[in-house]
Amino acid sequence: MREINLKKILAIALSLIATTTVAANEVDKRRILPFNEMQRDHVLTEMRALLTGTQNILDALLREDMIAVARYARPLGMGMTHKAEDHLKAILPKEFMQLGMSVHKDFDQIAMDAESLKDPKHTLRQLSESMKKCNACHAGYQIRVKEQSAQPGMHSSHHQH
Ligand code: HEC
Repeated sequence: MREINLKKILAIALSLIATTTVAANEVDKRRILPFNEMQRDHVLTEMRALLTGTQNILDALLREDMIAVARYARPLGMGMTHKAEDHLKAILPKEFMQLGMSVHKDFDQIAMDAESLKDPKHTLRQLSESMKKCNACHAGYQIRVKEQSAQPGMHSSHHQH
């Protein structure tokens, strides 16, 4: 009896230590993108547009409305990147940028093919293929907001006047 209790206590103690260690080593191991609030908002707004656009494309595909497919796919193409990406280009890892650009190129291709081939199955295949890149990037990166939303290039140490 006493031995069992000791074992239990030991098990609980060990699991507590394990939990603390995991917390100290960071639970989320994905590479961190250290953004300020504005940069985070910019990227996540674009992400939500990608999800909404993809859903709209699927809905149009269901109706085999290939004109609508092109209309929903085009805004997710390279045109999407011209908005405010310059300030992000400097701080984003190269592989992250390449993966992102490659997704935008896919949507341009999806729009073009929807118009010229008008083949829902072909579009569906392209979309499925391209969405592997959504998964690849999400598996590799996370956004963390820096404590002080400092301007790019500025240091968080405060000025002495
Ligand atoms: C080049 C990298 C990259 C690609 C490609 C990418 N994402 Fe993301 N996405 C991110 C990152 C980073 C986050 C934030 C994840 C985090 O901090 O946990 C995110 C978050 C999101 C979110 C959450 C938005 C919010 O408001 O919280 C959605 C939805 C999303 N992505 C959809 C998509 C879809 C759909 C695709 C593909 C069509 C896609 N993403 C492709 C990097 C990417």
